[in-house]
Amino acid sequence: MSVKRALVPGSFDPVTNGHLDIITRSASLFDEVRVVVARNSSKQPLFSLDERLVMLEQVCSSLENVTVHTFEGLLVKYAELNGATVIVKGLRAVSDFEYELQMALMNRRLADHVETMFLMTGAEYSYLSSNIVKEIARLGGAIEGLVPKSVEGRLRQKLAERP
Ligand code: PNS
Repeated sequence: MSVKRALVPGSFDPVTNGHLDIITRSASLFDEVRVVVARNSSKQPLFSLDERLVMLEQVCSSLENVTVHTFEGLLVKYAELNGATVIVKGLRAVSDFEYELQMALMNRRLADHVETMFLMTGAEYSYLSSNIVKEIARLGGAIEGLVPKSVEGRLRQKLAERP
């Protein structure tokens, strides 16, 4: 029987509890899950690629079938080269849908054997995003419970280092 390998792609700047929920649920659905961090995102990240990888590796360490990688260029190309047949995305609200549908359809056009699957985010994370967590932290608000404990400290430290 062939191994079902899925990708959970993103910028993860930084990983939130919403991401971790999607990664954990994907790990129970597939034989292998690769969390893949985009190297060439158009966004200006707060954390370096290495910092994001370290945080992800820490929070995924208890998930035996999950590994963390980076990718550059087209996600479906990475999927093809690495034997992954599924891309998993989390959907929070209707506002995510239009953009995600566009990406899923374009990815299918590029590689019709790579399927995109959507997991509805847990209700408690439906308002969460890396950007909103960074903003709350920057403005001195409480971020407990929004990101993993190990990320909380790194986020506070990172913002303290900044002018
Ligand atoms: O966490 P993000 O920033 O929403 O993740 C977006 C990401 C990295 C998953 C998306 O931008 C992506 O897949 N980029 C890779 C480039 C690519 O394949 N583009 C074509 C998508 S239609």
